[in-house]
Amino acid sequence: MGAEGLEPSVSIDVRLDPAAAQSALEADTRMGLTAVGKWLPPIWFYDDAGCELFDQITRLEEYYPTRTERSILDAHAHDIVTASGADTLVELGSGTSEKTRLLLDALCDADRLRRFVPLDVSEATLRSASDAIAAEYGVPVEGVVGDFTRHLSHVPTGGQRLVAFLGGTIGNLDPSQRARFLLDVDATLVEGDTFLVGTDLVKDPARLVAAYDDGAGVTAAFNRNVLHRLNRELGADFQVDGFDHVAVWDEEMAWIEMRLRATRSMTAHLLALELDVAFEAGEELRTEISAKFTPERIGAELDEAGLAVRDSWTDPAGDFLLTLATPAV
Ligand code: SAH
Ligand code: TRP
Repeated sequence: MGAEGLEPSVSIDVRLDPAAAQSALEADTRMGLTAVGKWLPPIWFYDDAGCELFDQITRLEEYYPTRTERSILDAHAHDIVTASGADTLVELGSGTSEKTRLLLDALCDADRLRRFVPLDVSEATLRSASDAIAAEYGVPVEGVVGDFTRHLSHVPTGGQRLVAFLGGTIGNLDPSQRARFLLDVDATLVEGDTFLVGTDLVKDPARLVAAYDDGAGVTAAFNRNVLHRLNRELGADFQVDGFDHVAVWDEEMAWIEMRLRATRSMTAHLLALELDVAFEAGEELRTEISAKFTPERIGAELDEAGLAVRDSWTDPAGDFLLTLATPAV
């Protein structure tokens, strides 16, 4: 049952429709594959197959971040909700919103939940999570299909909002994108709103690499899936089995880098772009970074963007961190 006076409902605001997504995919692919040092932005991992593969990643033994972040929420969701004073939960890059239920439960227990606002690029995933949460929690869900680096200004305002960005997804932005993103978050928050960000912490490189190169090959399939997507959506002919999955720890940058390495020399033709892309044997295409933090570093980056740290929570082993911040006055 929902809170008194609230009715379950779902409305979805599509800020990135299929046509807009197609032109953004085309522009990003042209930019990335014609660059010296080829790369692709990670947002394109998450088509339906990619979302399903990511869901499998979160259940892998090697992939500790999901269960660790869940354990922190298990222990501290009530503290977070109390510290935030929120009645509206906004979630960026919400995916299946599985861990988010712990925050929703705590808001319900405090008799405060008025509304849930998930934002994700994957429309199908967003719709099914929105339907499920409206039904289970009996509250209005106002979803946004969009890009959290472009569409934050379309997040509905009103109420006292807790904006959650979980899963360590902030680490998938490079340092300059991250600085820009945090400034955008700060600009969207009004007095009384709070920002909760999950960050994976620096640790033994062997554990970090294993989390991005699992024994069952699920992460490899996730990484290669982006090439299947280009084949399907851009009329390309990448020989997907000619690319090896590579995950390396860059000590200096403190990030894991995910790459696809051509095992032989190949040329891919991308019909939709009228573009041919040649790979030499051994050449690598960068598909993602996943930055790892220290509590000081995320605190400093928040501070730089005008966000003040109010509290933070970690697991006993210090593997993952949740930080709550508010606009500095
Ligand atoms: N928050 C969930 C999912 C993390 S996976 C968790 O903690 O488990 C990252 C999610 O962000 C995916 O659902 C993906 O579709 C979404 N995503 C990735 N890049 C995005 C972008 N630029 N804008 C909006 N959503 C994005
Ligand atoms: N936000 C996740 C992370 O950085 C995304 C992710 C997990 C990922 N495994 C991956 C992205 C493998 C690309 C490839 O941990």
